[in-house]
Amino acid sequence: MPTTQKTQTASPVGRDTPRVDGPRKVSGLAQYTSDFHFPGMLYAVPVEATIANGKVVKLDTAAAEKMPGVRAIFHRENIGKIFRSTLGQGFEGVCEERRPPFEDDVVRYYGQYIALAVADTFETAKAAADAVRATYAKEKPNVETDLKADDDPDEVVTTFGTRQRLDSKRGDAEGAFASSPVKLDQTYVTPSETHNPLELHATTAIWDGSTLTLYESSQGVVNLRGVLAQMFGLPKENVRVITKFVGSGFGSKLWPWTQCPLAAAAARQVGKPVKLVLSRKMMFQSVGHRPRTQQRVRLGATRDGKLVSLQHDYVYQRSILDAHHEDCGEATPFQYSVANLRVTFGRARRNVGAGADMRGPGRVPGLYATESAMNELADQLIPFSSRHLLECFELGAEKFGWSRRSPEVGSMKRDGLTLGWGMAGCSWIAGRFSSEASVELRDDGTARVASATQDIGTGMYTILAQLTSQKTGVPLDKVEVALGDTSLPEGPLSGGSMATESVVPAVFSAADNAITSLLTIAATTPGSPFEKHKPDDLAFEGGRVFVKADGPAKGVPFDDLLRRANLRLVSGSGRSEATFGNPKPKFSTHSWGCHFVEVTWQPELARLRVSRVVTVMDAGRIINPLAGRNQIVGAVVMGIGMALLEHTSYDPQNGAPINSNLADYVVAVNADAPPIDVHFLDFPDKEINELGARGIGEIGLAGFAAAITTAVHHATGVRVRELPVKIENLLA
Ligand code: MOS
Repeated sequence: MPTTQKTQTASPVGRDTPRVDGPRKVSGLAQYTSDFHFPGMLYAVPVEATIANGKVVKLDTAAAEKMPGVRAIFHRENIGKIFRSTLGQGFEGVCEERRPPFEDDVVRYYGQYIALAVADTFETAKAAADAVRATYAKEKPNVETDLKADDDPDEVVTTFGTRQRLDSKRGDAEGAFASSPVKLDQTYVTPSETHNPLELHATTAIWDGSTLTLYESSQGVVNLRGVLAQMFGLPKENVRVITKFVGSGFGSKLWPWTQCPLAAAAARQVGKPVKLVLSRKMMFQSVGHRPRTQQRVRLGATRDGKLVSLQHDYVYQRSILDAHHEDCGEATPFQYSVANLRVTFGRARRNVGAGADMRGPGRVPGLYATESAMNELADQLIPFSSRHLLECFELGAEKFGWSRRSPEVGSMKRDGLTLGWGMAGCSWIAGRFSSEASVELRDDGTARVASATQDIGTGMYTILAQLTSQKTGVPLDKVEVALGDTSLPEGPLSGGSMATESVVPAVFSAADNAITSLLTIAATTPGSPFEKHKPDDLAFEGGRVFVKADGPAKGVPFDDLLRRANLRLVSGSGRSEATFGNPKPKFSTHSWGCHFVEVTWQPELARLRVSRVVTVMDAGRIINPLAGRNQIVGAVVMGIGMALLEHTSYDPQNGAPINSNLADYVVAVNADAPPIDVHFLDFPDKEINELGARGIGEIGLAGFAAAITTAVHHATGVRVRELPVKIENLLA
């Protein structure tokens, strides 16, 4: 079985590579959005609605306006025009909350911005925001947790366009279920979860005439430029978005949120740069969350374990205004071999902020439900005498020691603790966004690669350096990487785990084009050692140009050739088309994997811990195994949080997310993280790009919660079908 646990290669691709931006990060040189300062810059703090449903009838700003150091209190009457944005071609113009801030007096969720204080210092702006008094016509908010589908039409409009509520269908799922000898009919619930990147959302807006520059904490600078250009009625060329480093996003920073146009509008009114950094509390209110879901799964099987019917009917919570689609049924039609299948969805409107993509949107809560149901169904079936498992399952089972599992609840013990073992499969979509890049070779032997994509902590600086080094032979420490700026060639979104797979062909073709120019220069420059040759006779390898017939040993370094020609640099541009969103794809492209989990259970103390995890991923070629393992380990730790800790609770009285801070919204931390053994299979997927690399940002979270709840059942005998697992669920 091929795995990446093999000897390191000389090639930069596939080698464990410490982050090229690591020294900048640990020494504090890396500038995150809120680290940028500008002369005359002012600070903005939004005023948050303290109701979740109703109207603002009066806004008293007098006291706030009189405070020393306050420049303005903005609201509906004085913020100036902000337009709506709309979806363009492909992935242009995506936004989860379309309503421009302050567009009307209606409050639809707790924490909606109703005014904005701008002052000389952050502290003054905060005090002024606190001094604004709002009077409301209040109505009871609906934050009901039981989700019944609203009376929607069969086809609904979502953030990405229209969707049929009958999502997928084949055979006769109902008929086959009715006649199945073994049946399972259960409903699984996942809570609202809130993304908690360490770095808060932040915008600094600077106007220069009709040109707007935004320093933004963004996973997609190109999309953000398009949306903000629309909101201020500007040509795209007049907007520049800069995102040098991102303290993670988990999807919350994929699309623009309302603080960004607010900062830009305020900066326009005051004629100075304006910085707006959200508070942690605001992060729970106005920049998206993974919506709550309620998923009914019905499975029918024969006694010997053949699945004959699968019905997956899910409902998710949506906001009043917007239509984020939580695609829980995305993997259901192809994850399992079953002839009779039906997947449907419904939506339930609530007085909460817009939902958003959160690491593995849709498929992560979806696979929790379907994988849990499969595990429960398996308990009712006759075991296989032999089983032909997929390679992931085989390797995972071997590394974990699965054959030593005794299936009886509570039957396994170690050191006085009860053990629970569980496993689940997972998958995540693979595909490319359109992508552009440029590569330069320079006369000092260095190279530069540029693309307007982002590094959200996943390692894009390093990937771009590795790809460039691979093609040009320039060592990693001599490759300059430029990203996170819309003035660079348009790069992909850091989302959908697709950034890495998208940049590979763009960077490679940019490098090829630079090399082609170099060979022409080598053949045409007077005095060049290759003057008598045609460009076609020449080749390039490991940073050297040589005559094909002579071989690379007699090659000349490219910087030598550039200096002889008095050229500072030779450059190439590359572009690759999107595969994601292609209505007629040739292949169904996904990554696959599985998780094996051990929990320990102490019934005397009701103490549950995750003690061991083995995860196996089939994600194509892994370009940087070191950063790749980081991604999977991080997702597994997040999955422990998803299964056992994370949930956002809305107060039924005022609709506020009540645990809106990191003390009460509990995420998994180092102390919760057990040894996590990550393995990658090595099956390059050449349909995706020439390296065969697929993305790995999200798949590590998929399926994980189902592995945990199964392990919990194995240890305790309790089936928990609503996440997170709470101690009170386990007290007999
Ligand atoms: Mo991911 S939820 O596409 O950042």
